Amino acid sequence: MKILLIPALLASLSFGSVVEEYLLNLKNEVQKSEPDFKGFDIKRGEEIFTSTHLGKKGKEISCSSCHGIDLTKSHENFFTAKTIEPLSPKANPKRLTKVKKIEKWLKRNFNDVYKREGTPKEKGDVITYIISK
Ligand code: HEC
Repeated sequence: MKILLIPALLASLSFGSVVEEYLLNLKNEVQKSEPDFKGFDIKRGEEIFTSTHLGKKGKEISCSSCHGIDLTKSHENFFTAKTIEPLSPKANPKRLTKVKKIEKWLKRNFNDVYKREGTPKEKGDVITYIISK
């Protein structure tokens, strides 16, 4: 029992600290230009994630076009039809465990949907939405 418990505990601790630290860094970034900034917002994140825009490839898409609406389920990539594993860390513990990976895909995926990079505020809002799922 004890042997099984320790790795599980460590895994959950390391998960928490990666996203939390990432969000804290983004918050510091936002506060440089918005000193009164209170914190990231699930509602704003939901709007960023589910709203549709004329994307990079000239098609109307949203983040949900590839990741679905139920983030605890896998979904098909809008362009390649390849399966994408669930985005919710609750359903998929490998999610949001590496800052490099989060940054790489946010940059690429914001470009797909918004034809630009996300701002620190948008990235914080959307990650806050994803981890609430
Ligand atoms: C054209 C399809 C597509 C769209 C649109 C898309 N994504 Fe992704 N996303 C992917 C793929 C492919 C991956 C990488 C494969 C994987 O990790 O399953 C990925 C990975 C991610 C990750 C990495 C998570 C991790 O740490 O493992 C995040 C966060 C993410 N996407 C958020 C978003 C957000 C926010 C949007 C909207 C701005 C978005 N995605 C739109 C296809 C897409």
